[in-house]
Amino acid sequence: MSPANPKHILAAPAWPYANGPRHIGHVSGFAIPSDMFSRYQRMAGNKVLMVSGTDEHGTPITVQADKEGISPREVADRYNEVIATDLANLGISYDLFTRTTTRNHYAVTQEIFSTLLRNGYIFPKATLGAISPSTGRTLPDRYIEGTCPICGYPSARGDQCDNCGNQLDPTDLINPRSRINGETPLFVEQEHYFLDLPAFTEVLGAWLQSKSGQWRPNVLKFSLNLLDDLRPRAITRDLDWGVPVPLDGWRDRPDKKIYVWFDAVIGYLSASIEWARRSGDPDAWRAWWNDPSAESYYFMGKDNITFHAEIWPAMLLGYAGRGSKGGTPGPFGILNLPTEVVSSEYLTMEGRKFSSSRQVVIYVRDFLARYDVDALRYYVAVAGPENQDTDFTWSEFVRRNNDELVATWGNLVNRAVSFAARNIGSIPGPGELTAADHALLETSRQAFDSVGEHLSRSRFKFAINEAMHAVAEANKYFSEQAPWKLRESDPARMRTILHVALQAVDDAKTMLTPFLPRSSQAVYEMLGGTGSWSGLPRIETVDEEGGPSYPVITGSYDSSFRWASRPIAAGTPLAVPVPLFAKLDQSVVDEEIARLAGNE
Ligand code: MF3
Ligand code: ZN
Repeated sequence: MSPANPKHILAAPAWPYANGPRHIGHVSGFAIPSDMFSRYQRMAGNKVLMVSGTDEHGTPITVQADKEGISPREVADRYNEVIATDLANLGISYDLFTRTTTRNHYAVTQEIFSTLLRNGYIFPKATLGAISPSTGRTLPDRYIEGTCPICGYPSARGDQCDNCGNQLDPTDLINPRSRINGETPLFVEQEHYFLDLPAFTEVLGAWLQSKSGQWRPNVLKFSLNLLDDLRPRAITRDLDWGVPVPLDGWRDRPDKKIYVWFDAVIGYLSASIEWARRSGDPDAWRAWWNDPSAESYYFMGKDNITFHAEIWPAMLLGYAGRGSKGGTPGPFGILNLPTEVVSSEYLTMEGRKFSSSRQVVIYVRDFLARYDVDALRYYVAVAGPENQDTDFTWSEFVRRNNDELVATWGNLVNRAVSFAARNIGSIPGPGELTAADHALLETSRQAFDSVGEHLSRSRFKFAINEAMHAVAEANKYFSEQAPWKLRESDPARMRTILHVALQAVDDAKTMLTPFLPRSSQAVYEMLGGTGSWSGLPRIETVDEEGGPSYPVITGSYDSSFRWASRPIAAGTPLAVPVPLFAKLDQSVVDEEIARLAGNE
């Protein structure tokens, strides 16, 4: 079922900071949603490019380097590897997961900066910058905390208020203080480059208005609010770690770099360019960026909305010469604006904010060492922070795993395949179908449409609930038809029932693939499939000519398997399966809660 006109779809999950391992709150906002979406879009026949990488500049990295007593580069190398490994183990189907410390990324960032400057959207200005009185070093905006002058929130940051969403300057904060050591910062005059956001007020407004009814309402509302107060935003920083400013007199300065957020959002473009080069067709990225019919979907937590719905679009518009000052596009041409900024809300942990420092946290690595990757992916799909702040609790995790994943889907697979394997040894052919048989097959067929429609709109909860509804119907059918009672009295009817049930299992496996790629592969094999059903990512070591080598995630995920029912083949041998998922003991809840509390 390849659509007549496959679309080019860019999937752009946010770039995790390489300053520590990621926890499940992080990946529930960017990686897992983007992967569910991308896997569906590929199965629907579209041409997906999913690129991202680690975000390795700026103060998040330098602060961690100070803490560990190593260089920023060492911090970036260390956590780039940790994070890439975690994301690969989560099964996230990146076409390329790279990093922002590549030469390619530096070159692309500097080109965007230069064209924005030429078009008049970047300008220099003297400004007050904060320094730490005790160290004399620049105190980055993000590390200054104080009361928001707009809403009164007491823990606003120097770059933005997470409560009302307004962007701030550190000098706006009431009672500013360092988040590193609590001291009051000193403000001194410094020259910096600014992005002229007010030059985009009109065009951003029109663009955002056109998204009404398409974006999640919270995201659109937040984004529109930002337009009320667009001010020029500093895009250089007093920092010794970042992309050099491509200007004479600045290029070689060790103490001035491009602001990390300016370079990070450019990563989507630079990673697409890197992917194209590695794939052997250096211009291949243009199909996702220059063709106006291509679509792009950005996945992130809500603290990233400002950067994806306002700053990045402004940069793209300015690069194309489409702000109030006009201009002409640079060599990358006119670049597409986001089709949708798909932002999640926050995940909390047993009623508290995730916090690495207070150990209110479960890292991806630790989670995957103890539990099945698909149990996590299922939980994020069905109970993640898709539209509202959501609490992760271990009891809910165990309940969903046991009552839904194990008792519904695992159970259906197990009872249908085991019974057929024991009594027939292969997939039986059907006889004449009854109304009940038709009804079940029809339920599956309709579910492909509704689950697919929800997935294409990133409505993951609706999508997985519809898929699980089809699974529940199949379980009900199996119980009602009770094939075990027909072994002697009507073996032909028993075979038909098993055929229909196994077809429903196969259909459900297809529909659950975007959510549960590992176990879908297992079901595919149980039903006689060979080779790869749901492509899994792999880590490769690459380098740039002459440069250091680094790990990337990549993979080949396109297959001929489509978003549709595939008739199962009678006669395919069946073995008695091992259980798909492990049931979790209730003691898990207490153990995990003790781990949290024990570290308080
Ligand atoms: N590193 C940022 C964070 O973890 C996200 C950067 S997304 C990007 O919040 F697109 F800007 F890279
Ligand atoms: Zn505020």
